[in-house]
Order: sequence, then C-alpha cells, then structure tokens
Amino acid sequence: MAHSFSPPLVGIDVGTTGVKGLAVGVDGEVMARAQATYSLSTPRPGWAEQDPENWWQACERVLDELRRAAGAPAGIGLSGQMHGLVPLDRADRVLRPAILWNDQRTAAECREIEATIGLERLISLTGNRALPGFTAPKLLWLRRHEPDVYGQIARIALPKDYVRLRLCGEHATDVSDASGTLLLDVAQRRWSQEVLEALALDPEWLPGVLESPVASGHTADGVPVAAGAGDQAAGALGAGVDRPGPVSVVLGTSGVVFAALECFAADSQGRVHAFCHAVPGAWHGMGVMLSAAGSLRWLRTAVGGEASYDELTAEAARWGPGAEGLIFLPYLAGERTPHADPDARGAFVGLELRHDRGALVRAVLEGVAFGLWDSLDLLAQLGVRPELGRVSGGGAASELWLQIVASVLELPLERVAVDEGAAFGAALLGGVAAGVWSDVHEAVAATVKLQGRIEPVPEWVEAYAGQRERFKALYPALRSI
Ligand code: XUL
Repeated sequence: MAHSFSPPLVGIDVGTTGVKGLAVGVDGEVMARAQATYSLSTPRPGWAEQDPENWWQACERVLDELRRAAGAPAGIGLSGQMHGLVPLDRADRVLRPAILWNDQRTAAECREIEATIGLERLISLTGNRALPGFTAPKLLWLRRHEPDVYGQIARIALPKDYVRLRLCGEHATDVSDASGTLLLDVAQRRWSQEVLEALALDPEWLPGVLESPVASGHTADGVPVAAGAGDQAAGALGAGVDRPGPVSVVLGTSGVVFAALECFAADSQGRVHAFCHAVPGAWHGMGVMLSAAGSLRWLRTAVGGEASYDELTAEAARWGPGAEGLIFLPYLAGERTPHADPDARGAFVGLELRHDRGALVRAVLEGVAFGLWDSLDLLAQLGVRPELGRVSGGGAASELWLQIVASVLELPLERVAVDEGAAFGAALLGGVAAGVWSDVHEAVAATVKLQGRIEPVPEWVEAYAGQRERFKALYPALRSI
C-alpha cells in the first residue's frame, strides 16, 4: 500500500459546464482542485451541442494545473456527461459539434427505434427504452437530417472517451457510459449485435468496451488512464455507493436517485434506467429528473431579484410542510423519470392570496423532493429497500432542502465530504488502474468520508405522504391540457 507522500490520483469529469479535476491522495484527501469552463450552444430550441475541442483544451488546462499543484499523477480516471454523440471520420477528425445528453431533437427517432425493435425486446436487450438524450437515436437523426456527415462516420465516441482519444490515442469506453448509448446489451456487458443489426448501424464504429477500473491506455508520459465511468456511476463511487446499501441522491442541475444492484434488473416499462455500474460484475438502477437544483435556479432568476439562495430558503422555512396546499411540478425541461416525456412542463397548482415568494420557494424544494420520491418508488419495485441516502450536488448545501428530501423519501441522508463526486470517483478508478488499490471496494473504503447526517422531520413525514399523492395525480391531469 502506498504512503501519503505518494503521487496523486487524478480524476477528470468532463461535465456540461466545464471540466472539473481533482488530485486525490491515497487517504482520500483532496490535494488540489482545478476547473475550466466552456459554453453550451443551443442553435435551435431543444438542441444542445458542444465543440469536443473545448473539452480537450479544458482538460489539458486542468491536468496542467493539477500537476503543478500536486505533482505528476500515478493514475488518471475519466468520467463525464453521458450519452453525447461525437461523430469522427477515418482520421479521427470531429465531423460536427457533439450532440449532448440534454438535447431533445430525437423524439421521432425514439419512436422509430421502439417500433422497429419492440419496447419489450428493447428493454430486455438494453435495459432501457429509447429516450431522446440517448446516443442511438442521435445516430438515426444524423442519418435522416445530415446524410453528408453520417456518410463520413468511421468511429463514434462519448464525451469522456473523446478526451481519452486525445489523451492516450485509444478508442475505448467503459460499461457504465456505454449503457447510456442504447447499443449495449447491459445484462451481458457487451455491444448488442441484435440492436446494431435492427438499426442498421455499423459495429466497426464502436470503441472497445472495458470494465471501469481497467487501464485503457497511457498518456504520452506513461501514466495509466482508467476506462472510467459515466458521471453518475463515478459520482456514486465518490459517495461510497459501490454495493447495494445506501442510495446516492444527487441534487444537481438534474436530480438523481441511484441504487447499486448485484444483478441486472430492468423496469418493465423502462421508467428507471438499468445500467452497468463502474464496479465489475455490478449494475445500477437510476431515476433521473431533468430539473432539480435547476428548478430553484430558474425560480431565483425569475423572482429572486437580488436575493441569495440562503435568503430564499430562509423565506421558505417560514412556511410549514405543503405550503398550505401549493404544489410545484418540476418539469421545466420535460422529464425523464418517471414520465419519459420531453413535452412535460412545469406548473404551480393551488396558489392563493396568502402565498408569497417564500411559499413558491418551499413548493419548488418540495416538488423536486416528490420527483425524487417517484424515482425511489420505481426502484423499490426492483427490490431496492434503502435505509440511508448519500446526498451530493449543489442543492445539498441547503439544510432545509435536505430536511424536506429526507422527510419525503423517509430516509436519513448523509452528506459526503467531497462535492465533486464524479471527479472523485474517477480518481479512485485511476488508482485501481495504477495498482494503488486492488479493487474499487478497497478504494472506496480507503477514501470516502462523510460529514453530517440529516434525519427526516417526524411531523413532516405524514404531511408529505398526503401531498405526494396529490403531486402524483397532477401530471396525468394536466397532460391533456
Ligand atoms: C445521466 C445523465 C446525466 C448526464 C449529464 O443519465 O443524463 O447525468 O450524464 O450529467
């Protein structure tokens, strides 16, 4: 086992707003942090694109900064935004901007995929239904709308895997990220010949699929680079969710409830995602809501004026649970779990004269918590019975929000010490690839630390059990309007 003066393990998270990097010691202490941001382009409503060159340049800056601050790394792990499509030509040149996970242009292609393969067969093969964010529908969209680009494709890459290509010249991906393409046989952890044939996609385009802690190649100066993981699987490792037990709850722009599973298990209607975990031989179930802390950011922009988040949540704390009947539906950007509906929209229902800004904030905090509960409820149908949640993401800074989430989910929540969960988890995978730890479980046990625990508030639990039912009734009632 290495000592604390040994070289750092570096984790890189190629996110939607920028690259975040951490240099981590073998005891889990963060030795250095660095980040570099880039922009998102939305050339048309519902589209979301980025230039992969920006990811690479940001990654180079972050790696340089970490190296200067903490020394040359022993191992590097990559994680990143999932599902994005980078089309490459024969010379590995990027053919058009990457189409990202939050891009909504492929509703027609999703319907086409489900009609071609059949929903039931698709779910049994890939664990998932066709969602507009996933990679396969993006390829079908290119075939239809940009045949020139499509005709030149020789390879495709996911965002972190494009960075790997530049970093060590290898075409490779890992099982967790590959799970979000809709082209992986998730149960068998290999590309699905059947899906590729049904969609007439060329298997030669696909990178090799590795287990997450396996070294996928080396940098020019010989540092091993782990296959790594999609940001949610890496983030779960960073929260110590490496085996069934606590669920990972993320209150980021999007909201996630993530449960590690010992066996492959999929929801019969694909309402939660069934993906490979970043732990060899393990899977995970995951509900993803598209606007969690994003809903609060929206409200602050819309009515917050100069108020800080602390001021807004202090106003919300003056209201009791349920804010006297006010309910918020958090579907500001459509919704994935549980509705799989890019056209779903947000709503405030039950407004009255007494409601002020604090009531609106309270309803937003609660509406997001009810959305997380929808995911937990679907995971329960796969046999997930957690006794504890591990919470991370920007929203976890609010004590009130955590009390609300704990009371709605009826679960105590533990905060993790390091906020940058995905970069932290990636660093652990880099450490396993470098031989610092023998496996992912050892890496998690040696490094993941917690700070503070939030209990459900007994009087709120009952109030929320009633309010949850009203929340659930609203989406079907409003959809037809
Ligand atoms: C996971 C997902 C997001 C993206 C962006 O399914 O869509 O977590 O990876 O962070």
